[in-house]
Amino acid sequence: MAEQAEDRALPPLSPEQRNELGRRLGVEALRFRLHREENREKHFFGLVRWCPMKYAGPAANLAFKCAGLWKRAHREFLDIRVREETFALPDLPEELSGFTILHLSDLHADISPDLPGAIADALASVAGRYDVAVVTGDFNNFTVHGDMVAVSIVSRLRPAFTAPVFGCLGNHDSVRDVPLLEKSGYRMLLNESTRIRRRGSAPDSPSLLLAGIDDPNIFRTHDLARALSDRKSDEPVVLLSHAPSIHLEAARAGVSLVLCGHVHGGQLCFPNGRSMALRHWNFPDHVRRGRWREGATQGYTTTGVGACGAPLRLNCPPEIVLVRLESA
Ligand SMILES: [Fe+2]
Repeated sequence: MAEQAEDRALPPLSPEQRNELGRRLGVEALRFRLHREENREKHFFGLVRWCPMKYAGPAANLAFKCAGLWKRAHREFLDIRVREETFALPDLPEELSGFTILHLSDLHADISPDLPGAIADALASVAGRYDVAVVTGDFNNFTVHGDMVAVSIVSRLRPAFTAPVFGCLGNHDSVRDVPLLEKSGYRMLLNESTRIRRRGSAPDSPSLLLAGIDDPNIFRTHDLARALSDRKSDEPVVLLSHAPSIHLEAARAGVSLVLCGHVHGGQLCFPNGRSMALRHWNFPDHVRRGRWREGATQGYTTTGVGACGAPLRLNCPPEIVLVRLESA
């Protein structure tokens, strides 16, 4: 019964939900995103709708099995590492020095039944070590099918977090996921922002602005100006973006730190770290993986938690990141 419930199609948005999401994301952005979501499956001679992801995965699995690499690559896919990074932010109040954000991205939670347990174990290993957690999109792998499988898995993982969790949508996610994710305790930032403080501190204690934008790369329904509209002058800003393609805009807007993913570090890499993917990502090299800087803006592009297409990684382990902020 539970499985049947999880396989249900994502419910359509009610008029109230549509109004609320339009108010937050922007009415035009919502309309455009819903239209793109409806039409992103391929139409074969106008008759058959098919999802490339449905065939890319089995093809990659078969190729790796033939090469004798499948077991190794699947083992690496489940070997989620904990990484620790410290960023000195010039405008961070002294009282917030040491503030720690747990950063996850690209869960692709429905790609393998082995993955949720690995994520829960990784979260257990950092329990109590962070002030807030963030998920920078791609909760889903197979969202194009419009089902609730990934959202159900992610909902069950929520108790494994030991602090409030914020997130933004990725290109594999549907805006129709938002009401379900928020009901489970994930506060989504849809071209909007919120102030975060140390846990248990007074409402007027020093804070930083946590902003989140919609996917800036595939849907391009992001609106950074809208997300930063509540910013006070000189207030430090941490921006959640699914993809690093926001780097120039973020630098122009004076964002302190960008946390993002999407690239998966290449996912399947040669021993020298170069990706095996034929496609060249539409980003400059310096923002594709790990720490980067664009003007005064710093950023971190994580390799992500899950994998895209097939449950395989090679020379590119998955990670969750403890991002520690310090006053410069
Ligand atoms: Fe992804």
